Amino acid sequence: VINTKVDSLLSLMTLEEKIGQLNQYSLGSEFTGPGNKKGQDSIRYQQLISGQVGSVLNLLGAENTRKMQELVVENSRLGIPLLFAYDVIHGYQTMFPVPLAESASWNLDLMQKTAQAAAAEAAASGLHWTFAPMIDVTVDARWGRVMEGAGEDPFLHAEIAKARIRGFQGEDLAHNKTIAATAKHFAGYGYAESGKDYNSVNINQYILHNHILPPFKAATEVNVASFMNSFNDINAVPATANQYLLQDILRKKWNYDGVVVSDWNSIGELVNHGVSPDLKDAAKKAITAGSEIDMEGTAYIQHLAKLVNDGVIQETLIDDAVRNVLELKFKLGLFDDPYKYSDLERENEIVGNKQHHALAEEIAKESIVLLKNDNELLPLVETKNIAVIGPLAKDKDTPLGNWRAQAVENSAISLFEGLENTLPKTTSLRYAEGVKLSIGPNNFFQEQVINEDDRSGFEEAKQLAKNSDLVIMALGETAYMSGEGRSRAAITLPGLQKELLKEIHAINPNIVLVLMNGRPLDLSWEDENIPAIVEAWHLGQRAGTAIAETLTGKNNPSGKLTMSFPRQVGQVPIYYNHKVTGRPSTAPGQVFYAHHTDVDNSPLYPFGYGLSYSTFEYGEIELSKSSLSEDESITVSVNVKNTSNRDGREVVQLYIQDLVADETPMVKSLKAFQKVMINAGESVKVEFSINPQMLSYYKSNGDLSLEKGDFRVFIGGNSSVEEHKEFKLK
Ligand code: IFM
Repeated sequence: VINTKVDSLLSLMTLEEKIGQLNQYSLGSEFTGPGNKKGQDSIRYQQLISGQVGSVLNLLGAENTRKMQELVVENSRLGIPLLFAYDVIHGYQTMFPVPLAESASWNLDLMQKTAQAAAAEAAASGLHWTFAPMIDVTVDARWGRVMEGAGEDPFLHAEIAKARIRGFQGEDLAHNKTIAATAKHFAGYGYAESGKDYNSVNINQYILHNHILPPFKAATEVNVASFMNSFNDINAVPATANQYLLQDILRKKWNYDGVVVSDWNSIGELVNHGVSPDLKDAAKKAITAGSEIDMEGTAYIQHLAKLVNDGVIQETLIDDAVRNVLELKFKLGLFDDPYKYSDLERENEIVGNKQHHALAEEIAKESIVLLKNDNELLPLVETKNIAVIGPLAKDKDTPLGNWRAQAVENSAISLFEGLENTLPKTTSLRYAEGVKLSIGPNNFFQEQVINEDDRSGFEEAKQLAKNSDLVIMALGETAYMSGEGRSRAAITLPGLQKELLKEIHAINPNIVLVLMNGRPLDLSWEDENIPAIVEAWHLGQRAGTAIAETLTGKNNPSGKLTMSFPRQVGQVPIYYNHKVTGRPSTAPGQVFYAHHTDVDNSPLYPFGYGLSYSTFEYGEIELSKSSLSEDESITVSVNVKNTSNRDGREVVQLYIQDLVADETPMVKSLKAFQKVMINAGESVKVEFSINPQMLSYYKSNGDLSLEKGDFRVFIGGNSSVEEHKEFKLK
């Protein structure tokens, strides 16, 4: 039915009106707010009311969106409603943990729920479309945007992508609590050379097909409404003009029929990339490749009509793109009621409501990763005298993270507040900032200046540490030290924090280090010297409560890392599912094998790693049979025992290694996992089914290959697990 409606509307449209649907502007309230008279003289205003803008990003709020929708629906010839888009990444106003943190929960159900809550808030504010989830697999902690994704593993990334898309889109896009999602950035953005944002991507076809593309393919399987290009060039072709990615893979191989939006002026950037002499050529290349909406670039609105009229491109190319845009508008129900999402009453009721805050706390608790806990220093028991030291201890803003949409500034519960609310009143809790992490502006648009020399707070902090039984140190990165454009060459604690930590440690080594950061850090010194380390990321609205309840044992940590933490930056890129290599030896004294002479080959903390206050013991892996044919499966099981006196959750991970393949295999790949609750002293039998599809891989030509032979299955609590059993594919 929608197709017929789309076609009949399309048949009424002029070429200019069609091109308008492919034009997207970033607009504030200049046309809808109190000063709107000024804006009305602008070209953009004229384009808007004459139907030459199809979608708008960054315009928010039930009132604003209603007014702008009215301008378009009432003034343009065909009254085609606008789409309102926005980056709703980890919450709209209620902030959930940043996506990398959430991924550490390995709780797909909760991640679906946070996306659902974010969608409900956004939809109640008049929005139709989010530019999320970001599903760029990455192996480089230097890259700033690692905070926005789900880490290094393609399988886990794909599972999380599906959960988040289901959460945003629900069962029905026309429902007033759901919004269209975007699989971004297609493709390779997470593999920017040396981790520098926007940098070139040079990867082989094996990496492309086995590591980068699987989450995108998964997104198509749950009908993600749109795809977004990435800024980078990939093997010398910019993604925005990449026919191989957009046509051969996305449209032909995966039969994807949703919308493709460019990234911000990424069509215009084809000129910077040096593949187009001017914007007109950029427009031609991008539309021909299959980039359909020009986000804030003006290449299409300026040049497409002429390109068609001069016969350089066919009008059918434009028609196909417009069809996808109109179809999305129909699916969202905008032709039935263009104002259905702009409802002040719903906005007041839903945005930032209590249930969403409670959900933020629940997932924050599951996202915390306990990295180290010597001598069971944690959970804290009746400590009388605690010093809380560090620039992030009372910070109510950092936990909100980067890409924070409409979060209210300084609205997070700080660690100090969380501790005050959680610890018994008999505990003395005192605070010293110790050091300022950065100086000057702290916002999305400006580069942060890290404090490299002001040690004036050290003395006070040291005195406090001296007179305390225990020191909780809150260190890490502020919200804007990770995220877009925030790549770092050094991934240690920024500024003077490590110095402060060392000096405090010299006085009182009884330290619990609470880290707030948006990427894996090099924590080698910390791991060697600090008895307890808690990875608390940027955990969102209720960060302080979640951390405090974890430190005191009310919450038993269950998070596991989704990116390897290197021993030092020189190991980057470091990831568990690497190739075997021709020289894999780890035998002592050997020289001629794949390694660095000055650092171990292993990461400091591997993918999948995280401790609990419970301890778990894995039994022997059992297989229902030792071989399978292409139409069979094997049941594999393991008993996991909670050997402690605390109930706890464990993420049981199953990895497979293909021992011999036509193309060099990886040492192991995650193929399944289950997060299970195991009561104190009890055992749970965890069962998985291995099917042939889990044994296949993509060859460099992009074909899926299932090859007979021997495989290993590993089951354990992180990716460094060695216990395995072998089986055969006949
Ligand atoms: O969605 C984002 C993208 O991830 C980076 N460039 C800007 C877009 C819109 O804000």
